[in-house]
Amino acid sequence: MGTLLSDADVIERIFHHADNNTTDTGDTIWREPTENYLSPERFTAELELLRRLPVPFCPSAALPDAGSYIARDAAGVPLLVVRGEDGKVRGFRNACRHRGMAVADGSGYTKAFVCPYHSWAYGLDGALKHVPGPEGFPGLDQATHGLVPVHTVEERAGMVFVTQDEPVATDTLADIPDILSADQVHFDTIELVDKANWKLIAELSMEGYHIKALHNRTFYPYGFDNLNLVETYGPNSRITFPFRRIEKLRDMPPEQRRVDGMLTYVYQMFPSTHVSVLSSHSMLIILEPISPNETRWVIYRLSNNGAERKNDDSVEKAKRDAEFIESSGLNEDRDAACSIQAGLATRANEHFTFGKFEKGLAHFHTNLRDYLALLDGR
Ligand code: FES
Ligand SMILES: [Fe+2]
Repeated sequence: MGTLLSDADVIERIFHHADNNTTDTGDTIWREPTENYLSPERFTAELELLRRLPVPFCPSAALPDAGSYIARDAAGVPLLVVRGEDGKVRGFRNACRHRGMAVADGSGYTKAFVCPYHSWAYGLDGALKHVPGPEGFPGLDQATHGLVPVHTVEERAGMVFVTQDEPVATDTLADIPDILSADQVHFDTIELVDKANWKLIAELSMEGYHIKALHNRTFYPYGFDNLNLVETYGPNSRITFPFRRIEKLRDMPPEQRRVDGMLTYVYQMFPSTHVSVLSSHSMLIILEPISPNETRWVIYRLSNNGAERKNDDSVEKAKRDAEFIESSGLNEDRDAACSIQAGLATRANEHFTFGKFEKGLAHFHTNLRDYLALLDGR
C-alpha cells in the first residue's frame, strides 16, 4: 500500500482538519509557464512520454473474457488490446500487416481479427493465421507478419497498463495500491472532447480549493470548504474529498468506521489518468491529447460492487450516481478548462501560480518536468 494512509487514519485526519479549520498543504508555490499549454514542441514531448510510460488503457473488468477486445487511439496511436485464450492481455498496433488498415474497431468480443480490406486474419495472440489467395504472395513469411506488439502490457490494480515504446522509467507504479478490482461491473464507456489542453483537464481533479466556488450548487452542498487530504506516492497522488456526512462517524468506535459513501478518493496515475471512487460507482478517466488545445476524455464507468452482486440494484444505483456527476459538476469542470484554454489567447498570464492548497498540482508539474527531462537524456 506504499505510503498511503489507512481508511481509519484518513477519517481521523479529516476530523482533525474539520476541528481546526485546516487542510493539507504543500510547501512549494509552483509557477507553471502558460507557454507549456500552447507549445507544439512541448505537446510532442508529452505525447512521447505518454508512449514511454505505463499508462492505464482500460479497467481489467472491461476485458472480462478470452476474446474481449478494445480498439482505440492512445497517445495518438491506434492500438488494439485483447484478452487471449490463456487469459493474458496483449496489446498491438492496430494496423494490418498487408497494407495497414485497422483490423478492429470499437470494442466487443471475437475469436479472430479479420481485416476489412482483404481479409487477412489474425489470432488473439496477434499471429497471422490466414491470407486469402496465398499464391499472390510468394515468399511471404507469415511467422513475421503478425500484428506488431506494444512494448509491454501488464495488469495491475484492476487495470490494464500499456507501455507502447521503450520505457523512460520503470518506477512510476512502484507503490500503486489495489484501486480497482477485476470483478467490478463495467457498465459503460463514454467519450467527451473538449477544447482544452490535457493538463488543464488533469488539473481539475487534483485540488479541492475550487469546490466552494465552481461547484457551489452541485458538489459543495455535500462537501466541505477547502478540506482535502493530498498524499503523494512516487509521481502519483491521492486526493481525498470528504462529504459533510462523514461527521456521522464521530460517535462510532474507530474500528467500525467505513469510508464508503463518506468521501471520494481520487487516485492520480501519472501523468494523464485518474480513478475517482465515488459513492456507488468508480470512473477510470484517461485523457487522450489530440492537439495542444484539444483533448478526448475516455471514461470507463464501473459499479463499486463486484460481480457477485450483479443482480441486485447496485448497478442501477451506480448508473444514477454516474448520471448525476455527468450532468452537474463535470460540466462545470469542463467549462472551466475550456475557459482557461480560450483565455490563454489574452496573454494575461505568463505563469499560472499553484499555491499551498494546490499541493497535488505542484507534485504533478514537478514530476512532469523531471520525466520530460529523461527524454532529452537519450
Ligand atoms: S490491408 Fe488488411 S488485408 Fe489488405
Ligand atoms: Fe471540479
